[in-house]
Amino acid sequence: MSAQILDGQALATEMKLDAKRRVDELKASGVDVGLGTVLVGDDGPSSNYVAMKHSDCAEVGIASFHRHLPASASLAQILDVVDEFNETPEVSAFLVQLPLPRPEFEEVVLERIRPTKDVDGLHPMNLGKLVMSRPGPLPCTPAGILKLLQHNGVSVEGKRVVVVGRGLTVGRPLALLLSSTLPGCNAAVTVVHSRVKDLGSVIREGEVVVSATGVPGIIKKEYIRPGAVVVGAGTFFVGRKLISDVEESVAEVASMITPRIGGVGPMTRAMLIENTLLAAVQGRN
Ligand code: GUN
Repeated sequence: MSAQILDGQALATEMKLDAKRRVDELKASGVDVGLGTVLVGDDGPSSNYVAMKHSDCAEVGIASFHRHLPASASLAQILDVVDEFNETPEVSAFLVQLPLPRPEFEEVVLERIRPTKDVDGLHPMNLGKLVMSRPGPLPCTPAGILKLLQHNGVSVEGKRVVVVGRGLTVGRPLALLLSSTLPGCNAAVTVVHSRVKDLGSVIREGEVVVSATGVPGIIKKEYIRPGAVVVGAGTFFVGRKLISDVEESVAEVASMITPRIGGVGPMTRAMLIENTLLAAVQGRN
């Protein structure tokens, strides 16, 4: 069997076309839509991700605002920029690109973002809403993964889903989302990570497996139950090459799989646009 491709690029393109139409309507009714980004340091992949987010904004007609601070920026300097965006009406919502060069700043920085402008859904108040299955801005990668599955007719309701990875931006919120009582969720979710013994035996229980660890090839063909749906959210660069959590041979046993390029990444960015629009609409009221 060779798995059907879960084409995130195609769906993201459709979503952006629809977003453009809604942005035009909002503009016509006098509502500004703007996304802010804060980049600290010069990490190559982070700079690229931020640049792509701005190019998506341009494509759909959303204004974008960018602040770039040196890697040596103090916590106070980063918080100043967060405060500035919190107070700028043209910025409907914004994000601080993670990881920060000083990861110990992240908690304080995320808490300083005004929850209604938190486009990433990573403020503790918004993560708390997710814990409580209450509506709120959802972290973009988890929301994008759910949308990609639903669009391809994969329901997670009542199914066994194994999430590999427990990071703040993907694994942890994805497990919360899929196990929540929010519409289209209600999955039986197991969270595993690189320190779990006999990872394969747990992963093999998954009818849907999502990996977001950043460990190259951690998901092996023999770990996958034949016919499972596999989502690789752990792509990362080694030099200029994009590497995945998921070994290529997994496609031989999975029924559906995300491609290494054009899978989850474009969906994350499409959800960022959705969250920006949502913040703009809610900010108007
Ligand atoms: N770095 C990698 N993924 C993300 C994300 O979803 N949001 C932010 N702010 N930084 C990231």
